[in-house]
Amino acid sequence: MKLTETEFQYIQKLVHKEYGIYLTDKKRTLIESRFSNQMEMRNFKNFSEYFQLLKDDKTGNEMIDFVNRITTNHTYFFREDKHYTFLKNVILPDLIKTERSRDLRIWSAGCSSGEEAYSTAMLIDDFFGGNKYIWDSQILATDISVRVLNQAVIAKYTVDEVEKLDKYWTKKYFKKNENEYEIVDTIKKEVIFRKFNLTHPFHFKKKFHLIFCRNVMIYFEKSGKDEILKKFYDALLPGGYLFIGHSETIENKSIGFKFIEPAIYQKE
Ligand SMILES: C[S@@+](CC[C@H](N)C(=O)[O-])C[C@H]1O[C@@H](n2cnc3c(N)ncnc32)[C@H](O)[C@@H]1O
Repeated sequence: MKLTETEFQYIQKLVHKEYGIYLTDKKRTLIESRFSNQMEMRNFKNFSEYFQLLKDDKTGNEMIDFVNRITTNHTYFFREDKHYTFLKNVILPDLIKTERSRDLRIWSAGCSSGEEAYSTAMLIDDFFGGNKYIWDSQILATDISVRVLNQAVIAKYTVDEVEKLDKYWTKKYFKKNENEYEIVDTIKKEVIFRKFNLTHPFHFKKKFHLIFCRNVMIYFEKSGKDEILKKFYDALLPGGYLFIGHSETIENKSIGFKFIEPAIYQKE
């Protein structure tokens, strides 16, 4: 099923207004393919009919399904491993010296199916070893897609995905079921998953030592990205770090982040 120009503009505006995501013209055929099957199955004659239902639906379920289809959720364990090396070699040793409360606060913003947050939880557990119990290091992991959040909570991953990992991690933190791997319970309970839209105001009681927001803002246009960066800045403790994707940069110096190394920024 094809999108007319007006229908494409409607979807562009809707996604931008609600989620900050800017759909380039290149995304048009991708959207057509992601929606066509279900629209035909549900006997919609065109996209406009579907959009009307999206507007009228008071249950919120249509919008949940729409977001699940519109988002790009590609991710994997220990993606962009320089971040994990920096966490292990710089951030955690510093916090051992300075964080007397032993309360470590990390947020995986745009967590997709959980690989980023679980990789971080594994690394922290491995780093602290026998002393892990004195630290409260539960990670907050959020996304707008309910589909990926459900997958993340279940914490089961394909053999292909997990066997790409260094065996050290596979052996220590996964159990093998028949034809999949599952994260062990000790790591599962270290991550709390929530639905949260980054374009909404942030109301966190405590500030974070580290925020991951990697490969999320690439889908946003500049002003939306700057707004979120300002909110991340406020949500970080002084000296706290922001990790972004390695293909991303922070151009707006006025926000106040100090460049540490590619894709790593610090609140001064
Ligand atoms: C490509 S994945 C990145 C996953 C992980 N951070 C990584 O780098 O591997 C981008 C994720 O951002 C989420 N996302 C997009 N817009 C968002 C928004 N406005 N609020 C929260 N999450 C959003 C998507 O649902 C998707 O799961």
